[in-house]
Amino acid sequence: EKNGFDHFMLKEIFEQPKALEKTMAGRVDKETNEVDFPELAWTEEQVAKWDKVHIVACGTAYHAGLLGKAAIEELTRTPVDVEVASEFRYRNPIVNENTLVIAVSQSGETADTLAALRQSKELGAKTLSITNVVGSSISREADDVILTLAGPEIAVASTKAYTTQVLSFYLLGIYLAQKKKQITPEQNAQYMAALQEVPEQMEEILFHNDEIKEYGESIKDAKSVFFLGRGIDTAVALEGSLKLKEISYIHSEAYAAGELKHGTLALIEEGTPIISLLTQEKLYDKMLGNIKEVSARGANVLGVTMRGNVKVTQYVDETCFIPETYSLFTPLLSVLPLQLISYYTSLALGNDVDKPRNLAKSVTVE
Ligand code: M6R
Repeated sequence: EKNGFDHFMLKEIFEQPKALEKTMAGRVDKETNEVDFPELAWTEEQVAKWDKVHIVACGTAYHAGLLGKAAIEELTRTPVDVEVASEFRYRNPIVNENTLVIAVSQSGETADTLAALRQSKELGAKTLSITNVVGSSISREADDVILTLAGPEIAVASTKAYTTQVLSFYLLGIYLAQKKKQITPEQNAQYMAALQEVPEQMEEILFHNDEIKEYGESIKDAKSVFFLGRGIDTAVALEGSLKLKEISYIHSEAYAAGELKHGTLALIEEGTPIISLLTQEKLYDKMLGNIKEVSARGANVLGVTMRGNVKVTQYVDETCFIPETYSLFTPLLSVLPLQLISYYTSLALGNDVDKPRNLAKSVTVE
């Protein structure tokens, strides 16, 4: 059932191109190339009514939610809050009938996410769930459901569920923008063409697996690893850091690079591995400035960046190139090397990759 892979996690990482294709199929109108969610059938009036969106989730699903915020705000200019469900549910959130609440959960059974969903319903919000499990509690209780079609995810460390959740948010953002007439047919077509290219671009990254493996093995004895980014790269940094902690048990932190000098820079020492993300063109120079700061303290920096951005190579010790796409969509690609790094680090340490200590696949207690 592992299809020749040594672990479910590796199999699931490699299943991502197919999972994305499946999640996209049936949601794109072949004639107009517009996004269509037959399962939602929201009217323009309904969509116009929502003046606030809340995304609630835990762990990796929360990290997907951070990208959901970026997509919905960028494409529709509607304010979006993202919060971990265990905080949201205990803080008397401002939610009413003009709010859309989106609960994101691979399993559809996470106790805190379910409680946040129930509370939002009681407060009169419209609720939507993005989940991978048909018939799960969260899918049954939400008003509407977008199913990620990733197929069963067995490894505790979430990979293909994350990328299909992120893709669902991009499609949802475009769908909402269409309903609000905030996207031109040309823009629409360009975005859809770019998204349709992603599965193949993922294959290209997976093909260079061996280089990433070497890097993953090289950091196995690190005391601490830092993930840096700016803009949406910060959200991907958080996901890379969680993955690494979860299965390699190495301490790691994700940081918005501009915040470093407000405290965290004190932790950087000779040889500290830094995984930096540089996928947002308008932030390249700012990131390079931050990389200089850590290099000056002896850190060993890996730069994950778009192919063609050779300038980066002068500033970092190692580079991992990913194919080009729209700035908004880069997380679908940049997260792959991070997933693979955590896998190979964990493997080199002899850990139980698929079943890390202290953790469960589905967290049904709060
Ligand atoms: O099933 P859910 O998406 O609701 O699970 C949420 C988190 O428990 C989950 O994403 C967790 O953070 C993963 N093990 C991370 O890889």
